[in-house]
Amino acid sequence: MKLLALRLMGPMLAAACSLGASQAFAETKPVSDSHPFHQCASCHSLDTSANAFGPTLIGVYGRSAGTVPRFAYSEAVQKSGIVWNEDNLRKWISGNDAFIPGTRMRHVAITDKAKQDELIDFLKALK
Ligand code: HEC
Repeated sequence: MKLLALRLMGPMLAAACSLGASQAFAETKPVSDSHPFHQCASCHSLDTSANAFGPTLIGVYGRSAGTVPRFAYSEAVQKSGIVWNEDNLRKWISGNDAFIPGTRMRHVAITDKAKQDELIDFLKALK
């Protein structure tokens, strides 16, 4: 009896935990207000592979643009044919809609080189 209950509880607990985790994510700030990723976190989840309003950025460094499964990208990003290396990430965060006109992502403009470096290092480390 106890074993059966445990077996039933396992998946339920797992489901509850993953729900709890994404809710916790939405409510808490994963990075400090002054960290440049703070401007991205409202749309990009740091939850392993979950897509939010934007696609997951886990593993974004070195990935081809527009290739996260089950995310509805704009045609512009899908057809851009770029890979998210340092150079392209820098262009994207300094003015995404100028870099890929027609993107659905809201305009961001991080022009401070030190902030760009901090953000790119952060994105590189998201694995
Ligand atoms: C208002 C919501 C929003 C904010 C804020 C936002 N993004 Fe996005 N992001 C999106 C959406 C939506 C897309 C998909 C764009 C498309 O398909 O045109 C996207 C796409 C991306 C991509 C391409 C990913 C891929 O798989 O090709 C990168 C990289 C990215 N965002 C980085 C960032 C960074 C870094 C920030 C913070 C400086 C940021 N985003 C802020 C919504 C947002």
